[in-house]
Amino acid sequence: MPLPLKSNIVFIAQSLDGYIADKEGGLDWLNSIPNPENIDMGYGNFIEGIDAIVMGRNTFETVCNFDIDWPYEKPVFVVSKTLQMLEEPFNKKAELINGSIPEILTTLNQRGYNRLYIDGGKTIQSFLKEDLIDELIITTIPILLGGGSRLFMELPKQQKFEHIGTKVFLNEIVQSHYRRKKE
Ligand SMILES: NC(=O)c1ccc[n+]([C@@H]2O[C@H](COP(=O)([O-])OP(=O)(O)OC[C@H]3O[C@@H](n4cnc5c(N)ncnc54)[C@H](OP(=O)(O)O)[C@@H]3O)[C@@H](O)[C@H]2O)c1
Repeated sequence: MPLPLKSNIVFIAQSLDGYIADKEGGLDWLNSIPNPENIDMGYGNFIEGIDAIVMGRNTFETVCNFDIDWPYEKPVFVVSKTLQMLEEPFNKKAELINGSIPEILTTLNQRGYNRLYIDGGKTIQSFLKEDLIDELIITTIPILLGGGSRLFMELPKQQKFEHIGTKVFLNEIVQSHYRRKKE
């Protein structure tokens, strides 16, 4: 039987100028293109295929403050150096995980979580710094935010990706899928 495929995957929406949240931390611009039929742009299929979500503390806190039920069915691991514990009721929904990014990855893989959805700007950047992102699925909304939380930051060295495919949704939103190309 083939070994389970280990993959750390980013599935994220950015503005044309590369931000994932606006200057106030807001996400309203994600819905700036009318989507009357509420198409999910591949999110449901993507989530089906992953084992767990690794999320930065800021993204976790954003999700906790959404006025909706807990939106994830897959296990969620929150990366933080400052949190000692997760508060009720979220301690039943998610688990705090500590250590360096490679240590976190080893722990999760040993626990059988092999296909990981990596979420949150700084968390994605931490994985990229260690060259530990295998796939990027980036959905670009045609808006310039002019500032906010960046998706990418400086890296120690270049990383090449191959283009897997691009889809256009609502004639406005472009989603490109890339896979890390290692020589
Ligand atoms: N557009 C989208 O699709 C999308 C998706 C997700 C999130 N967002 C938005 O993006 C913003 C959050 O992004 P963000 O850049 O602030 O980053 P984030 O990754 O959500 O949170 C950053 C925090 O995660 C922890 N962290 C990150 N890397 C770590 C590491 N290597 N070791 C230990 N802890 C680490 C740290 O928490 P401590 O400070 O506690 O140590 C850090 O301050 C929010 O506004 C969110 O709503 C947008």
